[in-house]
Amino acid sequence: YSNKDFAGKKILVTAGPTREDIDPVRYITNRSSGKMGYAIAKAARNRGAEVILISGPTKLPRPEGVKFIGINSATEMYNEVLKHFDEVDIVIKSAAVADYRPLEKSEKKIKKSDDDMSIPLTKNKDILFELGKIKKNQLLIGFAAETDDLVCNAKNKVCKKNLDFIVANDVTMEKSGFDVDTNTVKIIDRDGTIIQLPNMAKEEVAHNILDHILNIKR
Ligand code: PMT
Repeated sequence: YSNKDFAGKKILVTAGPTREDIDPVRYITNRSSGKMGYAIAKAARNRGAEVILISGPTKLPRPEGVKFIGINSATEMYNEVLKHFDEVDIVIKSAAVADYRPLEKSEKKIKKSDDDMSIPLTKNKDILFELGKIKKNQLLIGFAAETDDLVCNAKNKVCKKNLDFIVANDVTMEKSGFDVDTNTVKIIDRDGTIIQLPNMAKEEVAHNILDHILNIKR
């Protein structure tokens, strides 16, 4: 990529799922592969940005030329994002962060019994919401993975989390969302403007998001 239009910019990207431990052998997670977030990190790097990639566990190779921070849980992701927030210009949160974690992690493997069982869950902090409260000049871009009422739900998140724009993902569509190489998204601005992008490679989605950042009116 010859156009270094992100030179001098520092971008924090989150990617992948989080893993919430139940006991030493079990955890709660989701279907995120990290492909969308890694595509953004690489596209930003190729356009000259300094990139910090904070990633949950994925099977993808670590991209070269970015600062890579691996985490497991949502709490660890929260701590790392907060640690680096002051030093970056742009945050893009494509990670699929667990909303809940087991209230307690059992130190020993939970044994099977004859009864049914349930695991009490407690809420994780919403990382984007916390960033939205403390942001100064940073641009804050969220993702929304929805299965219903995509636009309505995504629009709510733009305001609630004080985002500059959101990338809304209907994860029920074919060739879109979790663990595939392509995505179909809508970019929704604070003023409600919606740009519908056609199905395209996640790499191209990444470049569209970066283009939109450069066009944004603040
Ligand atoms: O990784 P892939 O397989 O390529 O799949 C890509 C993707 C579907 C994971 C990605 O495109 C996507 O939509 N990511 C957002 C998934 C998600 O968690 O959406 P959400 O609507 O639950 O959360 C909204 C936003 O708040 C997200 O930016 C999320 O990072 C953020 N969030 C959510 C919960 C939480 N505790 N803290 C957060 O910051």
